[in-house]
Parts: sequence; structure tokens; C-alpha cells
Amino acid sequence: MRIAVLPGDGIGQEVTAQAVKVLRALSANNGPQFEMTEALLGDCAFDAHGDPLPEATLEAARRAEGILFGAAGTYESDLRPPESRGGHGLLRLRKALDLFANFRPVYAFPELLGASSLRREVIEGVDLVVLRELTSDIYFGTPRGIDRTPGRRSAHNTMRYTEAEVARVAHAGFQAARRRRRQLCSVDKANVLETSVLWRELVGEVARDYPDVELRHEYVDAMAMHLIRRPRDFDVIVTGNIFGDILSDAAAMLTGSIGMLPSASLNAESLGLYEPVHGSAPDIAGKDIANPLASILSAAMMLRHSGGQEAAASLVEAAVRRVLAEGYRTGDIMEPGATRLGTQAMGDAVAAAIASLRSAA
Ligand code: NAD
Ligand code: IPM
Ligand code: MN
Repeated sequence: MRIAVLPGDGIGQEVTAQAVKVLRALSANNGPQFEMTEALLGDCAFDAHGDPLPEATLEAARRAEGILFGAAGTYESDLRPPESRGGHGLLRLRKALDLFANFRPVYAFPELLGASSLRREVIEGVDLVVLRELTSDIYFGTPRGIDRTPGRRSAHNTMRYTEAEVARVAHAGFQAARRRRRQLCSVDKANVLETSVLWRELVGEVARDYPDVELRHEYVDAMAMHLIRRPRDFDVIVTGNIFGDILSDAAAMLTGSIGMLPSASLNAESLGLYEPVHGSAPDIAGKDIANPLASILSAAMMLRHSGGQEAAASLVEAAVRRVLAEGYRTGDIMEPGATRLGTQAMGDAVAAAIASLRSAA
């Protein structure tokens, strides 16, 4: 499998190195082989080439069967005017490859029920997927801009969805529900926004093709509450770009930490970009304390969805479970009595678990 490895900035580099380590562990002893090409994306690319998404990176991504990405950006670069920093490399990459369907599975590992800020009985059994539309909405709508006329400063963005954009992600949502518990919850703000009125209408129309899937609609504000109050009631949640961004970080806490949440961003051709949901975490970067499991679990999603390697994907997930069951934790999911590991040691532990699960099989 050809993989483009884009570690990016901050802890993106640290956690991606662990996912690569795990892929190498899979390759040992006649396992699947990976051809990995590393490239720059984000501030590191801007500093080296004056562009957060250099042409060489885009080419490597296009040539790959799977893209493994870490995180991009820092608080300083976030605040510079987009035109002065070549826009946002990650957003440009998502758009260029048309990665419209962003799956963010939220699974409450039984071993981590005590690590969440929520009560055990609320999160026990949680197994849902947030499907976030990723190439449209207020992230990409035009016109957009900021007017800095002294005393009259103003700024505007445009929330926009087309029929084709909503319909294709709705289909992806129903199809995902079919592979799971056949429940789809569509989230919008149709009581206020025209984009959401259209969204709701179109999801309802697409639903006619999937009579076997139960469809519900929720408003995004109420959904933020339902997610925390009764997360077990949800199977697949389909929503727009901005609502999905916010809801998925909230949902991360159902798993104990944002450091546990992987994601897959797919286009119509099954090319996929796989990345942890978290960012570059400048507050903990360079300290070898970031949790690499979201990145490792993203690599498992890559093996499954872009590599067609179900057995290897399941082996990685089993290795993560094994390490958690053995009581190993990074700081973000630490519990009394557990053994605290740094980023690299956690990567080593998962790699070792792969070897031992394999020799036991
Ligand atoms: P963040 O996800 O980077 O961090 C939020 C909090 O969670 C921080 O306290 C951080 O220490 C903690 N955290 C995140 N990942 C962790 C991990 N693996 N292990 C342990 N703790 C972890 O979000 P932020 O602070 O809002 O943003 C930081 C930078 O990252 C910003 O520049 C932002 O634009 C960027 N960002 C990038 C992506 C991406 O590339 N996909 C996603 C989100 C944010
Ligand atoms: C995410 C991030 C990105 C987003 C940022 C870094 C552009 O928060 O992947 O969730 O908003 O999509
Ligand atoms: Mn986000």
C-alpha cells in the first residue's frame, strides 16, 4: 500500500511517528508492506517553502492510496491573515481531493470508562459515528472577508450548501447506518438557517431510498445536550462542516480524551485522509506526553477503508485494546493504579502488542 505520511506541526509529528512505528510492526515477519512517502503540510511547510500545502505534498497525496496526517497549525499562525500564509493547508488539501465525508467514530472503550469526565453509566456502551460534511459550508463559502476601516470594522462569511453537496453526504450517512444499527440522526439549525432548511429537506428526500434506516432530525444546540446526556441513543449522526467540527470535539469526551478519537475523510473514489481529530496541541508539544492512540487508530481506519486490509486493521485495534487492558495510559487518560507512559513508550507498547497477538494467533 502506498501511503503519504504528513506529520504536520506540534504533536502531529510525535503521534504520527507512533502510527508509522505500528505500521512497521505490522510489516515485520512477512506482514503487509507499505511504501511510505513523507511530505510537509502546515506551518512546517510554510516555513520551508512559503506554502502550507506545497505542490510536492499535493502530488504525494494524489499518488497515495492512503494519507496519514497528524495536525497542522499553531495559535500564532491561526491569527495571521489567511492570504499572508497561503490559506489553510489542511482545508486546501481536503478541498483539492474532494474529501467530503469525514467519519469520526466515537467508541467508549470499556477499559477507559473511568477516564471520562462523564459518569460510567452514561457512557458505557457508547458506539456512534459523527459523519461531518468536510468540503463546503461556512468553511468554504464566498464571499468572505474582513474590512478593517477604523471605527467601522466588519467581517463576513457565507454559509452555503448545494443540493449535490448535501445529497452525497446524506447518502454516505444512510449507507453507514445500514452497515451499523440502521439509525441516522441528521443535525441542523433549520429553525434559523436557510442552509439547514435545505439540508433537512434533502436528507428527507434521500431517506426514501433507505426505508430500512430510521431517520431523526435534531437541532444542533439540543444535540450538544443529547450527546452528553444520552449518547447511547445515537448510531450515525450526519451534519454539516461547522456543526460536525464542534460536536465531534464534545463527543470526544465520551471516550475519555480527544487523544482517543480517530477519523477518516473519504472522497467518492475511496482515497482517504486519516487523522486524529485533535490538533497540534502547542501546550504539550515536544514533551513526549501526547496520546498517540488517536493517530494509531486512524492508521487502522486507513488499512480498513483505503487498504482493504481488514485483518491488519483489526489487529491494530486489538493491540490498542490489549495495551489499555494491561493498564498502560498516557497522561490524558490516566487513572489511579494505571501505568503512565509517554508518547513513544505508548507507541512501543502497541507495536509490541501487535507482535505478541500475532505470535499467539
Ligand atoms: P488541540 O486539539 O490541539 O488541543 C486541545 C486540548 O487537548 C489541549 O489542551 C491539548 O493539550 C489536548 N490534546 C489534544 N490532543 C491531545 C493528545 N493527543 N493527547 C493529549 N492531549 C491532547 O486544539 P486547540 O488547542 O484548539 O488547537 C491547537 C492548534 O491546532 C491550533 O493551531 C488549531 O488551529 C490546530 N488544530 C488543528 C487540527 C488539525 O490539524 N486537524 C485540529 C484542531 C486544531
Ligand atoms: C478539525 C480542525 C480543523 C477544522 C481546523 C484545524 C481547520 O479543527 O479537523 O477538526 O476546523 O476542520
Ligand atoms: Mn476540530
